[in-house]
Amino acid sequence: WPPKIPRSPAFDETLSLMREGYGFLPRRFADLDTPIFRTRLMLRDVICMTGPIAARLIYDDARLTRVGAMPQTVLRLLQDRGSVQQLDGAAHRHRKALFVRILMEDKGSLDRLVATFRRQFLERVPDWSRMGAVALGKELDLILFRTALSWTQAPVDADLLEDDAALVADMIENAGHVGPRTFGTLFRRSLLERRFRAAFREIRRGKLTPMPGSPMAMLAGYRDVHGQLLSPTVAAVELINLIRPLVAIGRYIVFAALRFERHPQWKEILAEPDAERLTDFAEEVRRISPFFPFVGAVARASFDWKGYRIRRGQWLMLDLYGSCHAGEAFRAPDEFRPGRGVRRDEADYSFIPQGAGSTARGHRCPGEMATVEILKEAARLLAGVIDYEVPEQDLSVSLTTVPTGPTDGFIISGVRWRG
Ligand code: HEM
Repeated sequence: WPPKIPRSPAFDETLSLMREGYGFLPRRFADLDTPIFRTRLMLRDVICMTGPIAARLIYDDARLTRVGAMPQTVLRLLQDRGSVQQLDGAAHRHRKALFVRILMEDKGSLDRLVATFRRQFLERVPDWSRMGAVALGKELDLILFRTALSWTQAPVDADLLEDDAALVADMIENAGHVGPRTFGTLFRRSLLERRFRAAFREIRRGKLTPMPGSPMAMLAGYRDVHGQLLSPTVAAVELINLIRPLVAIGRYIVFAALRFERHPQWKEILAEPDAERLTDFAEEVRRISPFFPFVGAVARASFDWKGYRIRRGQWLMLDLYGSCHAGEAFRAPDEFRPGRGVRRDEADYSFIPQGAGSTARGHRCPGEMATVEILKEAARLLAGVIDYEVPEQDLSVSLTTVPTGPTDGFIISGVRWRG
């Protein structure tokens, strides 16, 4: 680590970040030959970092906050104001425990989630057989949205189901850039939030009773550190914080399908159920696929770290994508090698596609187990339950757009049950 934090020579690099996407941070670490550098984004001074030492700092909840760490539009498309990610200290840990219970500790809840996904997926297969060409990503948006509604017990408006699924997918799609579509998506999101708020009010008035133990019931009944119930507004925000990222798993599933195409031996291997190899495969898909490029944090007070003075209010950024592709941590990092056996592990600060450190005490994603389990189930279905062709199309993945995926989406055809 250099004695003084090097500064990238450009005055402001917002446009370069937009242009370069996933490559922006890794390229500068390489060019400046450093794991840390300073630059300006949106005219704001930011210290960018990569690797396990930096990950320990960015997931040190005592010194940093997520408040003010993302542009407002991104915040409101993703976690939103009032959400668990915007809390610190005891209030954060208390609310986070609710997510940990729903998504990690309650085995029955997780099993129900995966079973719901499987059912929703299988229900679509006959239609796919009739359709000819199927855009896998779009289908997964709908399947996962239905899964999320059924599992959380969120209110369903059958007439709006497809529009709502597209809206949730747009929240993810539009988080990487700001433009007219961002504001359109934010407006549509506010209408969905209004419906969810109304549902929480109905529950409070005893007019609606979600299944006991369901996420909807847990959110409605949750009391914070001060014994207060969540306001319907915050409960609606947190409900969307369960639904939206579940839909986002479809992006990893498309990357898994792409891996089957590029490494057909893995499709063969996983056609026979094998829990360990399924996990190897799913975890390597999470490691190698470009998804969440980086996370931001802000210093709550001034402190010294590795001989650097970090001032109160300093904006910091950690390169998640680059950290998962670092040659120091992963041999041949750009090669897809499920055999390397990476696993979600709180002591491992190198394999961090969904954040690092303690899930319960810091801002690490509570949805990792759900992501891995759904990804495994999807791999099982794609490799062992259905057969399909992948017609000629552009399967290249651009690293300059965030978020990204195969250029033509990933079209499959000739879908049929596997004999
Ligand atoms: C936090 C990525 C799936 C719910 C995070 C963070 C990342 C991330 C990087 C850390 C943000 C930070 O450090 O500030 C992803 C990716 C997913 C995914 C790539 C793949 C689809 C899920 C799922 C759920 C979920 C399935 C829930 C159903 C959350 C919540 C937080 C979070 C509530 C905030 C945690 C906190 O601030 O304490 N996610 N996530 N995520 N994720 Fe995920």
